[in-house]
Amino acid sequence: MSINNDDELNIHLEEKAELSGLSKFVKKMFTLKNPDNMLKQAQDAGLKKTLNAFDLIILGVGAIIGSGIFTVVGIAAAGSQEAAGAGSGLVFSVLLASLACIFSALCYSEFASMIPVAGSAYLYTYATMGEFMAWMIGWILILEYIVAYIAVVSAWSGYFMHFLKGFSNFLPDFIVNPPAYLIHDYTTAVREITSKGLNPDDVIPHIFGIPISLDLPAIIITLFIIAILIKGIKESTKMTGALVIVKLGVIALFIITGLFYVKPENWSANWVTPFVPTGISGILMGAFIMFFAYIGFDAIATAAEETKNPQKNLPIGIIGSLLVCTITYVLVALVLTGVAPIDKIDITAPIASAMSMVGQNWVAGLISIGALTGITSVLLVMMLAGTRILYAMSRDNFLPKILQKVHPKYKTPHILTIFVGIICILGTLSLNISVAAELCNFGTFTSFIIVCVAVIILRKIDPERHRPFKVPFSPYLPAMGIICCGGLMLYSTKFLKTSTTLFPIWIVMGIVLYFIYSYPQKRKLEGESEKDV
Ligand code: ALA
Repeated sequence: MSINNDDELNIHLEEKAELSGLSKFVKKMFTLKNPDNMLKQAQDAGLKKTLNAFDLIILGVGAIIGSGIFTVVGIAAAGSQEAAGAGSGLVFSVLLASLACIFSALCYSEFASMIPVAGSAYLYTYATMGEFMAWMIGWILILEYIVAYIAVVSAWSGYFMHFLKGFSNFLPDFIVNPPAYLIHDYTTAVREITSKGLNPDDVIPHIFGIPISLDLPAIIITLFIIAILIKGIKESTKMTGALVIVKLGVIALFIITGLFYVKPENWSANWVTPFVPTGISGILMGAFIMFFAYIGFDAIATAAEETKNPQKNLPIGIIGSLLVCTITYVLVALVLTGVAPIDKIDITAPIASAMSMVGQNWVAGLISIGALTGITSVLLVMMLAGTRILYAMSRDNFLPKILQKVHPKYKTPHILTIFVGIICILGTLSLNISVAAELCNFGTFTSFIIVCVAVIILRKIDPERHRPFKVPFSPYLPAMGIICCGGLMLYSTKFLKTSTTLFPIWIVMGIVLYFIYSYPQKRKLEGESEKDV
């Protein structure tokens, strides 16, 4: 009997130990990072505060306007293999995408003015939902920035080839018209070769039975971007300002020249309802795709530690740049769909090709140069943002310490930058621009939804915290953000097969990695630093 009693006691103690182990595990997963500690960390970093509201708007426009309006707009209007486009209803898609962004931008503004630290959505989540959700949002942000980079670099390559064609009288033919397998990912190369009535297997070279198709211009510019980022680009607002002026200048040229060629019948020809050729479905899918063109305003929040009077200037910078971009995109959408029938436009360079179609080749040439410049600044910001998030996660002990290693001369995280660069290059081999843009949208919609949820949570758990900027009508406006972003995301899953499959795979990979690697690694490193103390 006594033996039995002892056994029972042991079993009871073991269960209790296991339970306390489990509850400790769960508690750690939901440990919050105190916003006051984040602010202190930022103060200790001691970055110089130089940016005002105008600088932030310039920075925002520099990060936002790129391949979305120069390339992806063609897919939004004409559709892709998997979904219809908006046709001349493009302007409604642009407005709808901007609405989804504005609610999230208000939520970003509340956080950025309250906790002006560089980690953006990753840290906002750490402050409200704890360690596990912070890891997941960081994981999703990595997807957002890396896949955005892949989509943007593919657009860069398209415009670069368009630009070279302008010199066909001076350059050898193998440079101006290289084989498709040297300038595209595999899927795009197959599509292009097939459209010429050829068999891709006969044209694309194979090594050990594997077809080889490389986007060489994309790989070369990526090597440049890696080199610039390692050398440490001090993104002076002057330089960004110059790039923004070139970008907005060519877009203004397109709008003004295009106005002379707008034919209202292009907005309504053959369609029962003017502006809405493919119906609501086309407009919703167009909005899902055009959302890509707005990505980047969240990057403004990462400049929080370098902003003067961040409480006032960050909300102005975030909302101001979004408004400038919305007005620009609405005008471009109206002119583009009015100048030419959408099905006739070359979707790899729609804005330039619309000008070529009306005989304005010199405008088309200038647009290609402006697009290349503008897209390059987005490339820099996307890779920089991707490395910053990984750096922050590695500083929080989620990832190997080696990623924090700083170059002895340039003082930049060079190993991390090379690592991200290699992933981007591998990505250009396997993802085409529409799948990359869609996948990036899935990631960004998710992070926006989480920021909207985080605003509602922090209002509940920390109502007394000083909020220099408050989302009006909370929780209704954050809830509208959740509904708009979630609705567009869910609707698109009806049509988009490839990205709808890849996104959950990414999420599951994140969950598995957290449990098998990041959780134990973080505990181990925390244990080591406690011992050091
Ligand atoms: N918004 C960025 C672009 O359009 C991603 O290139």
